[in-house]
Amino acid sequence: ASAMWINGIDGGLKISSERVVPFLSRPALPALLLPSGGHLFSSNAICQAFVDGLFCMLCVQPALLQALHMAVLQGKATEASKILQGPLSYLDQCLSKGTTPCLTEVNYDICAVLRSLALSLAFAPPGEWRCVQAWFERLAGEEACQAAVLKVLPGKGLEVLKPFVQRQPAPASSQQEMEAAALTWSRGLTACTEPPEKSHPILPQEGRRNLLLTSALPYVNNVPHLGNIIGCVLSADVFARYGRLRGWNVLYVCGTDEYGTATENKAREEGLTPQQICDKYHAVHAEIYSWFQVDFDFFGRTTTPKQTEIAQDIFWRLHERGFLLEDTVEQLRCEGCRRFLADRFVEGGCPHCSYPEARGDQCDKCGKLINAVELKNPLCKVCSKTPIIQSSKHLFLDLPKLESQLEQWLDKSTAAGDWTPNAKQITRSWLRDGLKPRCITRDLKWGTPVPHPDFKDKVFYVWFDAPIGYLSITANYTDQWEKWWKNPEQVELYNFMAKDNVPFHSVVFPSSLLGAQDNYTLVNHLVATEYLNYEDTKFSKSRGVGVFGDMAKDTGVPSDVWRFYLLYVRPEGQDSAFSWADMALKNNSELLNNLGNFINRAGMFVTKFFEGCVPAMELLAEDKTLLAQVGWELRQYISLMDKVKIRDGLKHILNISRHGNQYIQINEPWKKIKGGDQDRQRAGTVTGVSVNIACLLSVLLQPYIPTTSRTIREQLNAPAACVSTMLHAGGSFVCSLPAGHAIGTVSTALIAFVFKRLAGGQVKVKVGFIVNSHPKYLQDE
Ligand code: MF3
Ligand code: ZN
Repeated sequence: ASAMWINGIDGGLKISSERVVPFLSRPALPALLLPSGGHLFSSNAICQAFVDGLFCMLCVQPALLQALHMAVLQGKATEASKILQGPLSYLDQCLSKGTTPCLTEVNYDICAVLRSLALSLAFAPPGEWRCVQAWFERLAGEEACQAAVLKVLPGKGLEVLKPFVQRQPAPASSQQEMEAAALTWSRGLTACTEPPEKSHPILPQEGRRNLLLTSALPYVNNVPHLGNIIGCVLSADVFARYGRLRGWNVLYVCGTDEYGTATENKAREEGLTPQQICDKYHAVHAEIYSWFQVDFDFFGRTTTPKQTEIAQDIFWRLHERGFLLEDTVEQLRCEGCRRFLADRFVEGGCPHCSYPEARGDQCDKCGKLINAVELKNPLCKVCSKTPIIQSSKHLFLDLPKLESQLEQWLDKSTAAGDWTPNAKQITRSWLRDGLKPRCITRDLKWGTPVPHPDFKDKVFYVWFDAPIGYLSITANYTDQWEKWWKNPEQVELYNFMAKDNVPFHSVVFPSSLLGAQDNYTLVNHLVATEYLNYEDTKFSKSRGVGVFGDMAKDTGVPSDVWRFYLLYVRPEGQDSAFSWADMALKNNSELLNNLGNFINRAGMFVTKFFEGCVPAMELLAEDKTLLAQVGWELRQYISLMDKVKIRDGLKHILNISRHGNQYIQINEPWKKIKGGDQDRQRAGTVTGVSVNIACLLSVLLQPYIPTTSRTIREQLNAPAACVSTMLHAGGSFVCSLPAGHAIGTVSTALIAFVFKRLAGGQVKVKVGFIVNSHPKYLQDE
């Protein structure tokens, strides 16, 4: 058993507690992280009371949204306060008795809790829930809590919340919905089978939804950091897994982007050939993604004969159809190195401000963009010789000529598909400025050779070449690749990427494919993330700031925990940040206390009280309400996930287990099992419903934390068919573990990873492994 202990901010005070979470034989302690980052944690009675109520508040939250909806949008304030009656009365009782209901250690965002509480109290009929009121007022007086409370004080009137509530989907509540949920539940598993096992090669099939998923091909010349991982491969992986659960026919391909100057330079740096660099780092990437459980159907690379073949074919088709232009370009060439210098490899005086160390593309002093040939006294960064200006003929993709076709197609694709707002906006702004011809050739060695005799010493520019990698990688997977890539009627293409990649996928690459006129499959859904920051700064390979793929593994933190946290803070809609303290917090509060606790308890009740067999269930109104709530959350999950809102989908999974915890908490099956027949029967129903919710959770979690999901399903001995049944048509929560179903062994160590915070604000991840001297966390041994 792993004990968790925490040093409070007030003088390294160690607090230990005898309280044990039922059926989790692990002493647990409360701690609250304040918005300021400190811990609210003292022997002070207020804090004790706060902590006592906190657990219950977590349960109030889902009900709160429902209540707000009724009160603010439907004007049904009385009904709304009824919804909160149960949770708030329960909280009130706990506080009045001054006893702690079964309390887990709680690490929770205090702002969120206080806001929920303030809102809930706006529903309070005068004189009711006095203890909660008093408790809230005391808390609101605490300095540390004021900022949070001031934002939403009771009494301000709920009207101010209207815009917020309108944006939230309508939750379930009515009598009809309860009965409907109970009916659905009783249908149990339908005969429908689980999605068929993958059999390679996966090809589009008549009558199915055929999804072709790509994630931006990572540059081969470095180790990806967490921002790269969440931005493309991990996001696409979650969606691919989800799609397979939904029964769609999914092919997910990716690979390393291996050509270009950056690879040549890396090779020079490491004293290897470009090919050796590619081989080395391709393996590094493949290993990192496999550790993160990214389930590609195929992970290829761009330096293959197929790439040459397909890129040259597209080139010739563009050429034949008159979509390429020739133009002369002036470039800097270093005679010492016998090569043309990429902008980043030349330095000189800024033509604008005379700063002597300006780069070939931009001046770091005045920030202005520079044309490399305009630098004063330019020097080669590699050998410090003065380069000469040489003009050279290049080929350009005639974007202006393709513009109207492209726009027509974009109108259709963005209207019918799921394009993230940033993707649409970036694309629009490119088009608004008018398209200019883009150079597609380079004077380099490491690239796909241009097959035209007039350009035989040149290669294709990586941004022309790399997206063709999607096609060639698929071609290396199956020689029937054209069934995916020249089949827009049957195939839907999803491109996952970070936002800096958008114009290449929405403007340049589609234009190449349109111009090549070979009935190519073009992007239908463009899913772009914003940026993930590292603590309060940016990830930076050169400055060594951040967590890189290979380090994640070395921390000892399991890959499911990394996945969970990265997906929880996925920069969906806005930039977000990775933070060690927050990862520890979310691991402890959500993964352990919310999910892990619920699933463990549900399973352990079956094992301990019912000899491992799911007991008979007699549903009362209260149970049906829960079924309706869970059903509602499930439908939200599905509608969000269908639109690739991966982070938002996760929040609804966590809500389901919060509902479940509250249900167990209020019904206390561990007491009822010791009572008379009726009580024992009640304990059975609560246990049966709970373990079925655990089973549902295991399905919904599969795209996020696959190992944990599999463990739960094995422990519950869950039938394969429950996957498709629950995700079928709109989503139905059915009883998939009926009375008499024998579950397997449930271990308490389901999600057993516990972050331990050390004194002094250090974070250590595994002994001896210090990450950028940021705070340290230790894995519990
Ligand atoms: N290597 C590029 C990056 O990491 C992405 C290339 S995506 C592709 O930004 F489609 F062009 F391959
Ligand atoms: Zn040189």
